[in-house]
Amino acid sequence: MFETNRLILRRYRPTDEEFFLGLFDEYPVLLGITLDYITPNQDAYKTRLEYMKRCLLFVVVEDKATKTAIGFTLLNQTSGTLNRDAEVGIALTQGRWGQGYGTEILNWLIGYSFEGLSLNRLSLTVWSSNTSAIRLYERIGFKHEGRIREGAWKEGRFVDKVLMGLLAREYRERQVKEARESDGPENTFLYEKNRLLKTVVFVKRKLRNVDYAVRIVPHLHCGRLMGSDDDPSVPRTYSGNRIVAHHFASWDTDAAH
Ligand SMILES: CC(C)(COP(=O)(O)OP(=O)(O)OC[C@H]1O[C@@H](n2cnc3c(N)ncnc32)[C@H](O)[C@@H]1OP(=O)(O)O)[C@@H](O)C(=O)NCCC(=O)NCCS
Repeated sequence: MFETNRLILRRYRPTDEEFFLGLFDEYPVLLGITLDYITPNQDAYKTRLEYMKRCLLFVVVEDKATKTAIGFTLLNQTSGTLNRDAEVGIALTQGRWGQGYGTEILNWLIGYSFEGLSLNRLSLTVWSSNTSAIRLYERIGFKHEGRIREGAWKEGRFVDKVLMGLLAREYRERQVKEARESDGPENTFLYEKNRLLKTVVFVKRKLRNVDYAVRIVPHLHCGRLMGSDDDPSVPRTYSGNRIVAHHFASWDTDAAH
């Protein structure tokens, strides 16, 4: 069982069947979720319900205050487990539309999909005539991905099938952005200050490495020159090695700090 501010999202119980048969009998609800003829048909409703029960996730949405079912949401994995992509389904009884429940449910659903179920993508198809649902998906962060022109027959005319999707990384980017915005100016200042300090330390390290390279390379060169076969009184690598050893020692000491 899951919980949001005003809602419980729980498993289906046999006693919910009556609610679902009623929900599928609401013309405006079926208009949004079916591509088939909209005809009162109890057997078709039951077949639909059986199908929904077999989805990756299917939860009944219950109002905490009244303890009554008001709708459902689901995830249907049609694209194969490997792809970690699932199709979103959602419907509420018409009396509950326009009160922010859809937003509340989808905010929970995307969080659970990406954090709980580790999905990488959420997909959905919505008819272009369902403008309120499209606005809702856009607000939640879904992007338009394509259009099947005149792909659905709705109320005496052809409408487009609008394909939308949301990626896990887009969801995470949005989380970070919102967290940063809600942090307020004081924390934003600290964040920027930290970022600047890190950059300064990084640049200083790079400069120090360049400095060591400049100091060591001539000594290596010098050591090779002094270790000459022509003059046996000069130990072959004595001078160069000593200097280089000194520099490496100081390098190690510095790095330890
Ligand atoms: C799609 C659906 C789930 C949306 O649910 P919802 O609860 O109405 O969605 P919300 O209330 O969060 O948002 C809908 C509108 O209500 C407004 N709203 C949100 N909270 C509100 C509140 N407290 N008071 C008044 N209006 C509010 C939103 O701003 C939004 O307005 P808009 O349409 O002008 O953009 C619902 O309409 C539905 O079940 N439709 C039938 C099935 C369907 O079409 N499913 C989608 C298939 S793709």
